[in-house]
Amino acid sequence: MAALIVLTLCLLTAPLLRAQEVKLQSLLGTLDNNVEFQTAYRAPWQTMPQLPPMPAPKFNGTASVNGIDLWYAIYGADLVESQAQGHAPVVFLHGGFANSDYFSYQVDYLKDGPHTLITIDSRAQGRSTDDTSQPITFDIITQDVVALMDLLQVERFSTVGWSDGACTSFGLAMNYSQRIDRVFAFGATYNPENINATVMETHTFQTYMEWVQKEYKIYSPSSASFEDFEKRLLAMWSSEPHWSAESFQKIPSRFDNPNAPIIWIVAGDSEEAVTRTTPGILHDWIWGSSLVVLPSVGHFA
Ligand SMILES: *[C@@H]1O[C@H](CO)[C@@H](O)[C@H](O)[C@H]1NC(C)=O
Ligand SMILES: *[C@@H]1O[C@H](CO)[C@@H](O)[C@H](O)[C@H]1NC(C)=O
Ligand SMILES: *[C@@H]1O[C@H](CO)[C@@H](O)[C@H](O)[C@H]1NC(C)=O
Repeated sequence: MAALIVLTLCLLTAPLLRAQEVKLQSLLGTLDNNVEFQTAYRAPWQTMPQLPPMPAPKFNGTASVNGIDLWYAIYGADLVESQAQGHAPVVFLHGGFANSDYFSYQVDYLKDGPHTLITIDSRAQGRSTDDTSQPITFDIITQDVVALMDLLQVERFSTVGWSDGACTSFGLAMNYSQRIDRVFAFGATYNPENINATVMETHTFQTYMEWVQKEYKIYSPSSASFEDFEKRLLAMWSSEPHWSAESFQKIPSRFDNPNAPIIWIVAGDSEEAVTRTTPGILHDWIWGSSLVVLPSVGHFA
């Protein structure tokens, strides 16, 4: 009988105690770490997608271009055969600080299709080397892509560019338009002012910077510290790209020219890194481009 009373008491009081504890914890949480308490829930676009491993490439290695060793990998259809069948290779250009592995979902999805897929680690990033005798610029990154395509004897190609890679894609379309078949430009900018002032405070960007710092230690052939490399890349971000409507007029328009590159300006509707008005402006400036807004995703879709 006594045991039963104790048990009943326990059952009655335990939830009350737990409720008190929870209240206290929330109060402490609110007092101690207001920010952390509020971010207990995150919307899907405020979280980083986990990257599956890359599929096995058909080739990976470096090419000596413009004074650096540019790392690249080839997936999907045979390069010579796919081009003979009229399918332009698709070149994947990653965002600043990242590397080819960030395209694992896309490469895995497209690897059994008719196109050859080529991923490139941009200079100073991933497994590519840097040339510290000159600044990192979009022009030199653009020229690295062209030099690799020359080496691989690829005349015309398409690009899937994310962030910096999207800017590089524009650099290619502006200056080498006859070689560009299509551009899928996700999360692009045309001026450093397009970077959202609050991006550094977001959970996604902070997580991203933790990831890339770890990856730099694993992948980079450079003996320079991450901080030195970071300084060089941030110097580029603070001054480039610096394009106007006039720069984009160098891209031939689909309205006048059937061979003009097909250009998709792609945005996440919950972008946190690029200001919300940027994709619309780019779409207006690239006459004949398409504007695609992906639902419920941010810069790290
Ligand atoms: C590169 O190719 C080698 C085989 O040549 C393979 O062992 C390695 O896993 C590949 N690396 C990547 C990152 O795909
Ligand atoms: C591409 O064109 C832009 C706009 O005119 C120019 O600023 C840039 O220097 C050019 N880049 C290359 C690699 O030719
Ligand atoms: C900057 O990003 C936040 C989301 O992180 C968004 O709410 C805000 O509207 C953005 N600002 C601009 C100017 O696009």
